[in-house]
Amino acid sequence: MAQYILALDQGTTSSRSILFDRDAKIVSTAQEEFRQILPTPGNVEHDPNDIWTSQLNTVKGAIGKVDLAQIAAIGITNQRETTVVWDKRTGEPIHHAIVWQSRVSSYICDRLRSEGLEDTIRQKTGLVLDAYFSATKLMHLLETVDGAREAAEQGHLLFGTIDCYLVWKLTGGKRHVTDFSNASRTMMLNYETLDWDDELLAAYHIPRGMLPEIVDCSGKFAETDPAVIGHAIPIAGMAGDQQAASFGQTCFDQGMVKNTYGTGAFALMNIGDKPVLSTNNLLTTVGWKIGDQVSYALEGSIFIAGAVVQWLRDGLGIIESSCEVEPLAETVSDNGGAYFVPAFVGLGAPYWDPNARGTIIGISRGTTAGHIARAALEAMAFQTRDLIEAMQRDSGVPLQVLQVDGGASVNNALMQFQTDLLGTTVRRPKISETTALGAAFLAGLAVGFWESQDELRKLWNLDREFTPQGDRESIDRMYTKWLEAVKRSQNWEG
Ligand code: G3P
Repeated sequence: MAQYILALDQGTTSSRSILFDRDAKIVSTAQEEFRQILPTPGNVEHDPNDIWTSQLNTVKGAIGKVDLAQIAAIGITNQRETTVVWDKRTGEPIHHAIVWQSRVSSYICDRLRSEGLEDTIRQKTGLVLDAYFSATKLMHLLETVDGAREAAEQGHLLFGTIDCYLVWKLTGGKRHVTDFSNASRTMMLNYETLDWDDELLAAYHIPRGMLPEIVDCSGKFAETDPAVIGHAIPIAGMAGDQQAASFGQTCFDQGMVKNTYGTGAFALMNIGDKPVLSTNNLLTTVGWKIGDQVSYALEGSIFIAGAVVQWLRDGLGIIESSCEVEPLAETVSDNGGAYFVPAFVGLGAPYWDPNARGTIIGISRGTTAGHIARAALEAMAFQTRDLIEAMQRDSGVPLQVLQVDGGASVNNALMQFQTDLLGTTVRRPKISETTALGAAFLAGLAVGFWESQDELRKLWNLDREFTPQGDRESIDRMYTKWLEAVKRSQNWEG
């Protein structure tokens, strides 16, 4: 009997592969960073070949000497919304991938807004009209790459988010599929019919033939080409990284909320099998679909969280490596009055302001690099409170527990600040790799490696619980200052 599930986690700044055993323990892992291409301010691209090469290298690294026949299935999870278009005759991308953070297609959003489509888009997709989602990125490529529209109309071009592109590569070009969670981030999926929406496609001038078949998040929908990784292994799990993290956190019940601190930060609340629209600027999205079971989520998306640390390193140069940020922030006992709104690519939920830009305010003669580092870390917690407040207003119920994961969740001081700021218990699982774990769970369920969601619940183990301490009044005063800083960052460009 096969011993392992292999999870591929294709993120915004690095590709990872992790091998899990039956106890959901990590057996081996490999990671590779790849190039961020920043052609103009606010525009972010990736070379799909870098994505594929780095992912394949990590697959080889994680497998090591393990016999491939011991891998029961592969689960894929990925940075969502990032858009790739390639020529199916050659497999060659027609352009770099337009990354989810990119604002390059904002002008198309303005156009759709002026055509009166904003409300229709919201009602059909559960999303807000924003350059974050794939549709306007795809429209931008069709409108600006030489010959793209003609080739698309002749049926030569394929569109895919990163999940879809990886399956295409892993199957040697045999399968062009995406899953419901990723599809729900394209601004083309109707979240009620769970099919591509023809009225929207017509308004966007996107040929339906370019779009992938949509498959369940858990099911045997593809198999690797032995010529690619040496063996035919079922690809049986697939979900966007935030939905996968919810699954890995076993947020199977309505009302459960997780927050992942990655490049961005994303809070998702399970809202059960009936989609409802947020009245507080959150997104309605498919959590996962497995057979007849559809689970929807309310999502708050923050565009810059951990990425601010990269900027401290590569842009400002006050640290040499990312792990230096914590000790630097700990050189001071508070933020010294400095607030840092990292709106480098505008603001996501709940503000949705593409014209906001990064702002550091409250600097005095006494401000040090330590204060800036501290303010950058605190921004992750402040932005999370923005989301949780919106969620509480939507649900009408105070949040009892927030389950956290992702890189910055290992920072105890930050998690204590988060719990104080929210006034809510914060729980961190032993496995912080919940994104990859979620993809592994989805794949494992499909092939009988794990039997049921109940079995998966038993594999979730608490690492540490944080409970609110300190003085609410002073923490609320800080939050009021933060809200003021956010206002100052807004409406800057354009
Ligand atoms: O929606 C974008 C999100 O999927 C990116 O996730 O983990 O790369 O910050 P991450």
